[in-house]
Amino acid sequence: MANPLLHLLLFAPFLMPFFTLAQANGRLMVGTSLTATDKTTPWLSPSNDFAFGFHELSDKDLFLLSIWFDKIPDKTIVWYANEGKPVPRESKVELTADRGLLLSDPQGNELWSSDSVIDEAGYGFMNDTGNFVLVRSDSVKVWPVWESFKNPTDTMLPTQIMETDGVLFSRLKETNFSRGRFQLHLLQNGNLVLNTQNKETSWAYDAYYYISGTNAPNSSSSGYLVIFSETGYLYILRRNGQRFELTPRMVFPVRDYYHRATLEFDGVFIHYSHPKTFSGNPGWTAFWYEPDNICVNIGGGTLGSGACGYNSVCRLNDYQRPICECPQGFSLVDPNDEYGSCKPNFTESCEEDGTTSAEDAYGFVELIETFWQTPNYEQLNPTSEVECKKSCLQDCFCAVAIFRNDSCWKKKLPLSNGRKDSSTKGKVFLKYKKGSLPPQSDRLSFSVKKKNHGTLILVGSVLLGTSFFVNFVLVAAFCLGFFLIYHKKIIKVGRGDNIVETNLRCFTYKELAKATNGFKEELGRGSFGIVYKGLIQMVARNFVAVKKLDGVIQHSETAEKEFKTEVKVIGQTHHKNLVRLLGFCDEGQHRMLVYEFLSNGTLASFLFGDLRPSWSQRSQIALGIARGLLYLHEECSTQIIHCDIKPQNILLDDYYNARISDFGLAKLLKMHQSRTNTGIRGTRGYVAPEWFRNKPITVKVDVYSFGVLLLEIISCQKNVENLEIGGEEKAILTDWVCDCFEAGKLDALVENDMEALNDWKKLERFVMVGIWCIQEDPSLRPTMSKVTQMLEGVVEIQVPPSPFSTTD
Ligand SMILES: *[C@@H]1O[C@H](CO)[C@@H](O)[C@H](O)[C@H]1NC(C)=O
Ligand SMILES: *[C@@H]1O[C@H](CO)[C@@H](O)[C@H](O)[C@H]1NC(C)=O
Repeated sequence: MANPLLHLLLFAPFLMPFFTLAQANGRLMVGTSLTATDKTTPWLSPSNDFAFGFHELSDKDLFLLSIWFDKIPDKTIVWYANEGKPVPRESKVELTADRGLLLSDPQGNELWSSDSVIDEAGYGFMNDTGNFVLVRSDSVKVWPVWESFKNPTDTMLPTQIMETDGVLFSRLKETNFSRGRFQLHLLQNGNLVLNTQNKETSWAYDAYYYISGTNAPNSSSSGYLVIFSETGYLYILRRNGQRFELTPRMVFPVRDYYHRATLEFDGVFIHYSHPKTFSGNPGWTAFWYEPDNICVNIGGGTLGSGACGYNSVCRLNDYQRPICECPQGFSLVDPNDEYGSCKPNFTESCEEDGTTSAEDAYGFVELIETFWQTPNYEQLNPTSEVECKKSCLQDCFCAVAIFRNDSCWKKKLPLSNGRKDSSTKGKVFLKYKKGSLPPQSDRLSFSVKKKNHGTLILVGSVLLGTSFFVNFVLVAAFCLGFFLIYHKKIIKVGRGDNIVETNLRCFTYKELAKATNGFKEELGRGSFGIVYKGLIQMVARNFVAVKKLDGVIQHSETAEKEFKTEVKVIGQTHHKNLVRLLGFCDEGQHRMLVYEFLSNGTLASFLFGDLRPSWSQRSQIALGIARGLLYLHEECSTQIIHCDIKPQNILLDDYYNARISDFGLAKLLKMHQSRTNTGIRGTRGYVAPEWFRNKPITVKVDVYSFGVLLLEIISCQKNVENLEIGGEEKAILTDWVCDCFEAGKLDALVENDMEALNDWKKLERFVMVGIWCIQEDPSLRPTMSKVTQMLEGVVEIQVPPSPFSTTD
């Protein structure tokens, strides 16, 4: 039987010696300590997957004692000590015999401890599972006395188990690890619930999500453990041994993907995965989450403010995460807490001042598709809309009047569980004080999009009622379809609303310095400057790539104007094979461009990495680049010559579509004019010969570079730099390809790539197009529209001449 679990069980005993060996290396003896500085090396797990130590928080000189995924660029935090309170620089954590982990401030005052006795012979260990353990031993046995897995914060990892009464608490904000309002709790009765809680006393309000079917208290079918299996899925184990599956199985194998399940600061519980070995920067993918719609699901109870703060209105963004907004006439109590409560911009007193009537002082805004769960305190019936409004106007307690079918309901402040809801019937009137309202805004007049979760739910519910084997077969069948249908949507969960729709945004230097954490994380270095990863806070978070331009910058009014003009030209390009420009900064000597961030890195790392990408993927990428260039050369309003086409300048998006970056920069930085030998901006190996000669620079320089790139894509070989690997023969790829083509030995180009060899006609076509593109004489090179047609196979291709035959 093809059962992977069985195999795992059979082979597990043979793996044991390796575990023991690794443990000996990573043991942290009593007396070992770490100090909070940015240079301190954390305690690593043997595989280096996880680290325990002081995580530096952004620009505050504060550190969080925590555990994080160390190999992931984001260094995602999965556990934190000291209730999420960061500590100052030079704070210290020490492994002590009588208190376990002991965290103290620079003055030596104790801040937190694990409060566990391990004695002199005990030790600490950062396990490869992400579990930090304190171990005690005596002459007879060795046993763990404290584990981070047993004291979880907001995240669970594979192999972690939550016992009855176990809790995950959300953090307050994405970057504030103090306890937030949401919790995931496995109750005594076996129910797994999500609920908000009262801040001061931790009193739990009604659940907004719970697992039904496990709640027969103490019966054999009630749940008692939440298990994150080592194979990467979550389930509830019932007392009778049955499982209640939470996340779909085997979608992303743990061998290749990291997994985590996190109760997010906004109350959504999300199971994420992240590829282990991809160069580039793929980020976390959310593939399961609960609840389905937190704005609606949370509205069941009468206590608490709901998903957002009081008086706020909740709606979902495109990634099923809540957005909170104050209605007209209200503003945030804490301007830094967009998920918090809103206060009215006026206070209504019940004392009459006798000079103005209520009608003169107050009015109503009608809200569209907005609903507050707050109980009504009065109902009038029968009545009319006019009377309803009048009644509320003259009632100093009334904040909202709702009119429907001859009935009028009144609500008072604070309003709770507010949400956008297209099924709301009747008219909703919100009272405001005249003069307190900003000019009409349309913030609350968007419509709520209908979401369809049909497929996801189907997958889930089929899984619930069937045996393991049937599940296994079903999942295998579903995975593909699930992926194809949901990949697009799923990836979006957890990212923010996009700023892409809007026009170019002008950023200040300060904003970008903050967004990139002081230009900390470098994504790459190009011929035009260094690129940094950044996070722009709009409605939620958006990763961006910030390119600091390092060309010679002139300071004059005309130079500035030209810069803006060129940036605008770039900003007006819209094509699915181009990287989108989102904004720019032009402040004194600081010139920067802000691009959308693409998750899968550059074509260079994809093509020349350890794994050879498939032929179909490669040919799709080649076509994508050709189409992007065709657009730049022939289809956009101002012709753009790229001048630096190479694999480092092609990025890959979530779906491995090729996206050209850095276009328009040659003109922007005036590279055209400088054509002396030293001023050549293109990159060795990709530069067309006319750069060196006194010939005009046209779009054909890009065609040449594309030709070189195409041959690289076909062979997965770099044009230059092959001296050691392939010996003399392969030293220059273009020469070698031409030799192979003339000798009729195309198979040598793709080595043993069966997929390419079986697609011989296309392979031949692509090679011929490549050779046409690298002709020394620019006039012999085809245009990009011709190139695209030839690649697609819709026009006949003649056998190309040797590219080097012309002389000048
Ligand atoms: C590390 O985790 C593995 C797998 O759960 C476990 O077998 C091992 O005992 C752990 N090591 C320590 C020192 O706790
Ligand atoms: C987190 O939020 C709490 C409550 O608002 C605040 O007291 C604390 O200073 C914040 N922590 C950080 C690191 O900003």
